[in-house]
Amino acid sequence: MQIVRTAAELRAALAGATRTAFVPTMGNLHAGHVSLVELAKRHGTPVVASIFVNPLQFGAGEDFERYPRTLDADCGKLDAAGCDLVFAPDVAEMYPVPQTYLVQPPDALANDLCGAHRPGHFAGVATVVTKLFNLVQPHVAVFGKKDFQQLRVIRDLVAQFNLPIEIVAGDTLREPDGLAMSSRNAYLSAAERIQAAQLYRALAEVKTAIEAGERDFEALATRAARCLKMAGWRVDYVAVRDAATLAAPAPGCRLVVLGAAWLGATRLIDNLEVDAPPAP
Ligand code: PAJ
Repeated sequence: MQIVRTAAELRAALAGATRTAFVPTMGNLHAGHVSLVELAKRHGTPVVASIFVNPLQFGAGEDFERYPRTLDADCGKLDAAGCDLVFAPDVAEMYPVPQTYLVQPPDALANDLCGAHRPGHFAGVATVVTKLFNLVQPHVAVFGKKDFQQLRVIRDLVAQFNLPIEIVAGDTLREPDGLAMSSRNAYLSAAERIQAAQLYRALAEVKTAIEAGERDFEALATRAARCLKMAGWRVDYVAVRDAATLAAPAPGCRLVVLGAAWLGATRLIDNLEVDAPPAP
């Protein structure tokens, strides 16, 4: 596996590549990231992973500085997973001049759910992913459903800018107690880690209730948020949405239950797609 740090080295390494599959990451890799590399291998070759903690998608006071940077361990995991090439630029390589041109998702997506609590976040994601797509020029790019709203942003970005890239979505890998794997789980204290699966369980209860025929989505989401608050969480949102658009659910649409909440100083997100509910 080759590791390159600059755009010029990347271009040289990819000369002649015909069907590149790309997995963008911010590093501190876990089994969820590795599963995306394995999925990418089924869709193209060479498989390229990027590792870049993107300052543009972190707000003031967020965890950009303390985000775990573990390049050597990450490269070991990528190599073992069969990744061919790692692109690990530094900030000056990605942003040689201040990034004054941004890719701005529409307000309805950018300022909703996670965007409502992280102003500028999705513009930062869409901008860096556009830059990475232009650098790597992949035919296939793999993203996790763990970041469900991010996946929606990327799918729309590719469609609306006519980018010739197939977006493949990977399922969320979880710890045995249901907690979605996340680089941010490393921030949790031992006591918080025991509590952390409550977010998954709260969303799972909403999903189960909908699959059993309950239709008052607002009430279900409110109840889940209240349970989390009573257990000591600070809840950003729990919501039931149209799984395709993330808008308020229209009758008969596929549904997704999404949540974001803080345990101490750690913000966790998760979501569960609802299996087709029984006909009303
Ligand atoms: P990061 O949080 O490192 O995630 C990289 C990819 O791994 C994303 O597509 C994310 O959805 C996926 N992922 C995270 N946890 C997962 C899990 N438990 N199971 C399966 N996949 C999982 O998302 C980003 O980085 C950044 O925003 C990025 C797209 C790289 C742009 O900077």
